[in-house]
Amino acid sequence: MTLAADTNIVTEQLADGLERVERAFEAQLSSTFPAVDTLCRHAERYRGKMLRPTLLLLSGMGTSTGVPAFTEKHVIAAATVEMIHMATLVHDDVLDEASMRRGGATVNFLRGNETAVILGDYLISNAFHLCSRVGDPALNLRLGEVTNALCEGELVQLSRRHDLALDRATYLEIVRRKTAVLVGACCEIGAKLSGASPSVTSACYSIGEKLGIAFQIQDDLLDLTGNEETVGKSIGRDLEKGKLTLPTILSLERESGAARVAVLRAIEARDGDSLKALLLSSGAVESARDFARDIVQKARLELTSLHQPQVRAIFDSLADQVVDRAR
Ligand code: IPE
Ligand code: IPE
Ligand code: MG
Ligand code: MG
Repeated sequence: MTLAADTNIVTEQLADGLERVERAFEAQLSSTFPAVDTLCRHAERYRGKMLRPTLLLLSGMGTSTGVPAFTEKHVIAAATVEMIHMATLVHDDVLDEASMRRGGATVNFLRGNETAVILGDYLISNAFHLCSRVGDPALNLRLGEVTNALCEGELVQLSRRHDLALDRATYLEIVRRKTAVLVGACCEIGAKLSGASPSVTSACYSIGEKLGIAFQIQDDLLDLTGNEETVGKSIGRDLEKGKLTLPTILSLERESGAARVAVLRAIEARDGDSLKALLLSSGAVESARDFARDIVQKARLELTSLHQPQVRAIFDSLADQVVDRAR
């Protein structure tokens, strides 16, 4: 068989796996209380890109012995990481006072902050409940570490809001914790559940962490330059909430005099259109995108850890989409 034909088979296996993930997700999130069940159904109706389950299953397939394959444990772990992710989104929309998510209204917009806070708790609680079904305490321990790091990232970000002195290293550390640690863990867990060696498992973490950092940089670029209809969520929230992101940080690193004053004024006035125009014309947006592309390129060099060539080919094209995406 050719590599292309093999790649098609893996793509079909992945689609089948993602359907199983959705079923496991829905089975876990059902309640006999109509008030709770309605909220669960709302959370399920709007599907995201399923990046984290996709990476977990692909990493499992890429490191499996024999033909590419994943197990029921992979499916449960993939549903768990998506549920953790969704919990963080429901809470994040409260923090960001966002009204749109995945092309629909946010829970906080529809039902208020109190409901969104408790629903986020309910999702995280269900995620750990679901994960316990795998019967692997090391998996629960690892995911506990991941959610700790994620909350730390969000807390550091909160503590540095409106701080115009936020430097590149701190921004990248926030991004690593709030987003990339989970994405890295998805790749790591996929490999571990396939019985991969510690060195392959940690190489998979490293690939995912890099992709996660690049993914958040692109997310931040979309918040600045994207179109709300296409992105499917409220944009301009970073500026509104005083979160400095990479293009702004790069611009403040480089500019001096009137150009720097103009950027600072746009930030202070929360003038998204002016900030976007300034960062586009100075090349700061392009530099931030190049920065993300470089990280993706580094991740790509590590793909040799996935010994299944057809899975490596899919991972490779997915890596490009981390930065080259409009939603
Ligand atoms: C949004 O994540 C939050 C970030 C970490 C950037 P996604 O862009 O993966 O959201 P969905 O799951 O596709 O909606
Ligand atoms: C949040 O980052 C990342 C999380 C860990 C929830 P953002 O605030 O940029 O995510 P979006 O843009 O609202 O999806
Ligand atoms: Mg947000
Ligand atoms: Mg964002």
